[in-house]
Amino acid sequence: MTTPVAAYDQSVSGDRAMTASNERSPNHVAIIMDGNGRWARKRNLPRVAGHQAGTNNLRRILRACVDQGVKILTLYAFSTENWRRPEDEVNGIMRILETVIERELDELHRNGVQVRHIGRMDRVPVGLQEKIRFAVERTRLNERLILNVALNYGGRAEIVDAVKAMLAAGLHPDFIDEDTISRYLYTCGLPDPDLIIRTSGEYRTSNFLIWQSAYSEYYVTDVYWPDFDENELKKAIEYFKKRDRRFGGVTR
Ligand code: FPP
Repeated sequence: MTTPVAAYDQSVSGDRAMTASNERSPNHVAIIMDGNGRWARKRNLPRVAGHQAGTNNLRRILRACVDQGVKILTLYAFSTENWRRPEDEVNGIMRILETVIERELDELHRNGVQVRHIGRMDRVPVGLQEKIRFAVERTRLNERLILNVALNYGGRAEIVDAVKAMLAAGLHPDFIDEDTISRYLYTCGLPDPDLIIRTSGEYRTSNFLIWQSAYSEYYVTDVYWPDFDENELKKAIEYFKKRDRRFGGVTR
């Protein structure tokens, strides 16, 4: 980021007040960054060029999130199902991820961004694993914005991993409730997403944050991810602010 992100001093903890509408910005925004391939095809470019363009979009979205008062941004970079794509596309995405961490880490750190990873590390190329671990460790005390990168992430795999961890810890069934499960997910300690944005017009969750999204608001736009700019983010947030969030209750 070339421009320092705006300062903020609010905590990242969630707030489930039952209000008729949200006058404020979402605390946690999660994005399914879809449409890179179609963006490239429209320009007669290879699919990997679409992923590169999608990556180049990250700076302005990070900056816009901070400007809009978002505290946590979770990005769906690569799913457990994306390994089914052609080998050259998978390798291209892994290379892009490695390069982007290398290129952006100093700037992210300077701007107070805390990088986290959610997903499984197995199958991720060793070089990329090392870069992720280094970025997470280096930025772990930053507080301005949490950037949660979902890489080799699947919502079902996450629940499987949580169940295994609970069994391994010897938890008695009588002591397992919804909060226990949340604590064993990769997102342990983070509030659930308030708003999930999906670009490129598909109405699917695609195995993204399936436990955490129980009460998230969804916003779907036809815009392809590389074209999703700060104005598009603003539209999504304006939409969110008008939603009547009841969390299963009634509006007071
Ligand atoms: C979906 O578009 C996009 C992906 C599977 C990969 C997106 C990854 C990046 C933009 C890199 C992000 C980097 C960081 C650090 C978070 P698609 O290929 O499914 O598009 P299509 O539906 O048009 O084919």
